[in-house]
Amino acid sequence: MSSGERERTFVMVKPDAVQRGLIGEIVSRLESRGLKLVGGKLIEINRELAEEHYAEHSDKGFFEDLVEFITAGPAFAMVWEGADVTRQVREMMGATDPAEAAPGTIRGDLALDLGRNAIHGSDHEDPGSNEREIDLFFDEGELIEYERIDESWLYE
Ligand code: RTP
Ligand code: MG
Repeated sequence: MSSGERERTFVMVKPDAVQRGLIGEIVSRLESRGLKLVGGKLIEINRELAEEHYAEHSDKGFFEDLVEFITAGPAFAMVWEGADVTRQVREMMGATDPAEAAPGTIRGDLALDLGRNAIHGSDHEDPGSNEREIDLFFDEGELIEYERIDESWLYE
């Protein structure tokens, strides 16, 4: 294998995108890229989980709105695996503010507003955030190890 080491990252279709029927579109983009889905579930995030997940923003002015938004309806939580996957997913997501996100990115194509930006992904600039978020949302038994049939055609 010539590319980087395989790792796992936490990704979530946020409540706005669930309501707008975009779970399939978002999953499809990651799946078509060749990333491997190893866990996924529809969840209702309660306030406690929301506050823990976004703890790094607890002192920010937008924190309350963020917690209200993320708890407002079902979200689709996932774990994806692949080479350099945390950074690759962030690139595919685009800028935090969809108004600044490049066309071709998930936020640039599917969202318009900072507070309704469709998708969450672990921060590749915060080492360990991927493992921490996976542990927060998934039990070990909910993650499945398997080989995709196309792996030898995805990685040299
Ligand atoms: P996320 O954690 O949700 O994947 O988003 P992100 O890494 O791209 O951005 P982050 O800085 O972690 O911010 C988390 C969420 O807070 C909202 N936000 N509002 N009003 C504001 O200035 C502001 N800044 C951030 C966004 O909805 C962002 O996704
Ligand atoms: Mg973030």
